[in-house]
Amino acid sequence: MFTTVLRPALLSASRSPRVQRKVTAMSSTRKLVDRFVAGESEAHAAAATRSLLESNRFVSIDFLGEDTTDISQAQATVAHYLDLLRTLGELHDSTGSIRPLEVSLKLSALGQSLPKDGDAIAREHAHQICTAAAVAGIWVTVDAEDHTTTDSTLGIVHDLRADFPWLGTVLQAYLHRTETDCLDLSGPGSRIRLCKGAYREPSAVAYQTRAEVDNSYLRCLDILMHGHGYPMVATHDPAMIAAAHRSALAAERLPDRFEFQMLYGIRDAEQQRLVADGQHLRVYVPYGDQWYGYFMRRLAERPANLAFFLRSLRPGARR
Ligand code: FDA
Repeated sequence: MFTTVLRPALLSASRSPRVQRKVTAMSSTRKLVDRFVAGESEAHAAAATRSLLESNRFVSIDFLGEDTTDISQAQATVAHYLDLLRTLGELHDSTGSIRPLEVSLKLSALGQSLPKDGDAIAREHAHQICTAAAVAGIWVTVDAEDHTTTDSTLGIVHDLRADFPWLGTVLQAYLHRTETDCLDLSGPGSRIRLCKGAYREPSAVAYQTRAEVDNSYLRCLDILMHGHGYPMVATHDPAMIAAAHRSALAAERLPDRFEFQMLYGIRDAEQQRLVADGQHLRVYVPYGDQWYGYFMRRLAERPANLAFFLRSLRPGARR
């Protein structure tokens, strides 16, 4: 029921302006949003980052926003990232080969979906951000969005890697194409974040059952672990985490040649356990006031998240 009915409904709602207006207006939403989002301002993001770095976790910071249809909004997002990179540059030591700090970008927030020259605008905007990140000693990874953007996103990342060979990107195991993309993109210097995928996708392009997605994830993981790049294993799933350990061992890959990644506010104890075990662990920290799409995808991932949200809507529920 959750996978076949509620999940698709929540993912559709994540793109509905009407539902967005309702959900964001509810005061009860705020408490749950705070579990997944570090806050609305750059100062909130910097505070969360400082505390995660102190606990020996790495961080990837995402300034929330997506599906921008207005050039001035895309430009404002770039300006915001440039400001953020200046702030972050003062927070850490950037001398090692593994950068403790990273920013994550959604190309749709940088203009990719603008009706005219969207690709070129997003590429130029991402270039400006990568240039500032290089100065600050901070990595950049480009997030994966719905499948209609995959070719454009991988094309832009390919172009930018000529100037920024450390630029990372995300592959989604639920897409049929991803095994091939992993083979193509596991060369020397590549940084690939492998996740299961968070959007509503049709069966023509994506696996639909949990077992199919998990099996694809395992195949992709093996390809990346046996490749020549730096795999970033983005999952909270104990089965995928155990498989990553096995696959790294089989590929004779030491813990400093790959990293685990988890989302802010999810499985904090497991994050700390992995670090104590000597693993690299990066936390994806989203912040900003455009949290709606990100929040709805988190509700769609797990019945417990949805149940918690629904309970908070009951009259008299503690806020
Ligand atoms: P899944 O949601 O299938 O959960 C499997 C199991 O994990 C559960 O049964 C449970 O055992 C455990 N688990 C999960 N959540 C838990 C919780 N809160 N508490 C306790 N146990 C829990 N997607 C995308 O499309 N594009 C992107 O760019 C990104 N980027 C990204 C970055 C990072 C760092 C992460 C971690 C994830 C993403 N994602 C993403 C999201 C990703 O595609 C996916 O939707 C979520 O990570 C959920 O998938 P899991 O692999 O965690 O397993």
